[in-house]
Amino acid sequence: MTMNDNFNPSAIIRPIVTPILGVTTETPRTKAFTISAPSIGKHAVPGQFVMVWVPGIDEIPMSISSVNQGVEFAAARVGDATTQLHKLKKGDLLGVRGPLGKGFVFPKATEEKIMLLVAGGCGSPPIAFAATMAIRMGFVVDVALGATSKAELLFFNRFKDLETQGVRRFVVATDDGSDGLLGTSVDAATFLLDTDPAYSACLACGPEGMLVNLNTLLQKYSIPLQVSLERYMKCGVGLCGHCIIDLEGSRVCHEGPVFDAKNLEESDFGKVTRDATGKKEPLQFESNTS
Ligand SMILES: Cc1cc2nc3c(=O)[nH]c(=O)nc-3n(C[C@H](O)[C@H](O)[C@H](O)COP(=O)(O)OP(=O)(O)OC[C@H]3O[C@@H](n4cnc5c(N)ncnc54)[C@H](O)[C@@H]3O)c2cc1C
Ligand code: FES
Repeated sequence: MTMNDNFNPSAIIRPIVTPILGVTTETPRTKAFTISAPSIGKHAVPGQFVMVWVPGIDEIPMSISSVNQGVEFAAARVGDATTQLHKLKKGDLLGVRGPLGKGFVFPKATEEKIMLLVAGGCGSPPIAFAATMAIRMGFVVDVALGATSKAELLFFNRFKDLETQGVRRFVVATDDGSDGLLGTSVDAATFLLDTDPAYSACLACGPEGMLVNLNTLLQKYSIPLQVSLERYMKCGVGLCGHCIIDLEGSRVCHEGPVFDAKNLEESDFGKVTRDATGKKEPLQFESNTS
């Protein structure tokens, strides 16, 4: 049985209004929020997300980062909704729908139960959840984490703490070289692969350019990669078509946000992005093949 066999979206998408149980500052621009939502926590798998309604502002998608003491998500402050979210405190109310979308599918037991997890920038939340779950399922886990600087390494301490529980190797990279390797999470993954490429699977989340570069790297090793994609979302449940990608009409909110990278190769993955109006723009990033 895979993790998604229990998934029944139609049963669990009704919105609830719920109090914030706790807020922690994780990096200068990211806070983690824990909310009371047992119905979501009970069903959620790593890679799934919630639509968070910030009263009076907007409803925005956020990946689930933990279901331990309530449902947790971690939001970087980038615009109106996340700025308002960052002002909220314990006891304030949020609206929430979820868990939504399809999460990571954990591979079946193999002789080599070693998994590579790669997170870049704001991609740490689903990867932190996946690391906890993978360890619980008996996988040995290596983690590659990247950010612009040491201060922005999201959930650094959480991954570090997991070293006593099942994270075998934890390698970081920063754009400015303030911690770990100078470079991106793909450089951290390259370092891990150079020393031991015996992974049965790789799960990743981060900027789309990073995911494309990681896919190019992993093809050389024939390691299957699942990526969690971001697209502008409105309904979050497959109705409005706003988050559609060029892959047989797949909606990122419903058929994703997690996809097998192999299936994305013929799509607009790494090629275009869409703004709030739905207009397509070419995706700009530094390719590791150029
Ligand atoms: C499945 C999924 C999971 C996500 N998980 C996280 C997470 O764990 N942590 C995190 O910090 N961010 C996450 N995001 C991105 C987050 O939803 C946006 O940063 C947020 O919506 C910004 O809202 P805003 O009003 O503060 O900023 P705005 O000024 O409205 O937007 C800033 C940028 O955020 C993006 N964005 C805005 N609204 C949406 C939307 N409705 N759907 C998708 N992208 C949007 C756009 O790229 C936009 O240019 C996720 C996005 C998706 C699709
Ligand atoms: S956001 Fe409406 S279909 Fe995905």
